[in-house]
Amino acid sequence: MDKEKIASIKSGFLEEYQNSRNEKSLYEVKVKYVGRNGELTKILKKLKNLSAEERKQIGTLANEARREIEKAYEARKKELGERIDWEKEKIDVTLPGKKVEIGSLHPVTLVYREIERVFSSMGFEIVEGPELETDWYNFTSLNFPFDHPARDMQDTFWVKSPKEKMVLRTHTSPVQVRYMEKRKPPFRIIVPGRVFRNEATDAKHEHTLHQFEALVVGDDVNVGNFKYIAKEFFSAFFGKKMDIRLRPSFFPFTEPSFEFDITCAICSGKGCTTCKNAGWLEIGGAGMVNQNVFVAAGYPRNKYQGFAWGFGIERLAMMKYKIDDIRWFESGDLRFIKQF
Ligand code: PHE
Repeated sequence: MDKEKIASIKSGFLEEYQNSRNEKSLYEVKVKYVGRNGELTKILKKLKNLSAEERKQIGTLANEARREIEKAYEARKKELGERIDWEKEKIDVTLPGKKVEIGSLHPVTLVYREIERVFSSMGFEIVEGPELETDWYNFTSLNFPFDHPARDMQDTFWVKSPKEKMVLRTHTSPVQVRYMEKRKPPFRIIVPGRVFRNEATDAKHEHTLHQFEALVVGDDVNVGNFKYIAKEFFSAFFGKKMDIRLRPSFFPFTEPSFEFDITCAICSGKGCTTCKNAGWLEIGGAGMVNQNVFVAAGYPRNKYQGFAWGFGIERLAMMKYKIDDIRWFESGDLRFIKQF
């Protein structure tokens, strides 16, 4: 009687476990047969009531059946574990997807690239220098005498340092001297770079900004060369004919010095609110390299002539892209960046 029961329990299990589709239902099948109150367990529990002869016979059969069930269970469990659980893996294809944000180039980068493209085509070399500068390169070598009020033109971040006085460079001009120490004229270079001013920020002033410097040195470089190159550059940059206007000014490292204006890019010189009806926009500083700077760089006095100019990249980008507040550039606001 029990023999047949054992056989039917075994075949019952072997049939049912095959149909289980996941580990949970497989486990339920197992419990049904060999769990604490499982059908086979019941038989095993009753063994003690049987005669020695029967106990041996039934016991062997029942234990064999249990081992077989356990084995089949383990094998199936492994199989199910390796299998993809479609219930869990189900995806709702109608759900909105995750948006992949695509970056874009910062307007300062765009302007840099454009500047580098135009100047490379005119045979200029692109040179860079450190953002943390010594007092010597940032000021003294550029003919800013120690304690001279000209230093106040540039509000400086001084950096504590054990040896030399260090500053976060206030302009890209120190690269002039750094370059000249290593090279002999003639040469023409441009220097793009980040600069810092200890500035109370507003729509027109930022503490961290970018500049661009040009330096051309040779035996008889003159202001006319500067005007020509500047006109070529601004015309290429704005994609229309631009003019240049020089006004006398002062920088310790140039003599004579100028502020220079370009044709208003908005109204092409006709007069508008941006240029306050002047038709011109102030853009940067320029001048013939002061002989003291050549001497600081190790050149003989009065042997060479050169011009230098410099201006803010953000200012130029603001004109080109009609940006109304310089603080956008360092804001890290993607809504701003994505417009370019
Ligand atoms: N370095 C000057 C500034 O930042 C600009 C300048 C560069 C002026 C080169 C003259 C020549 O204000």
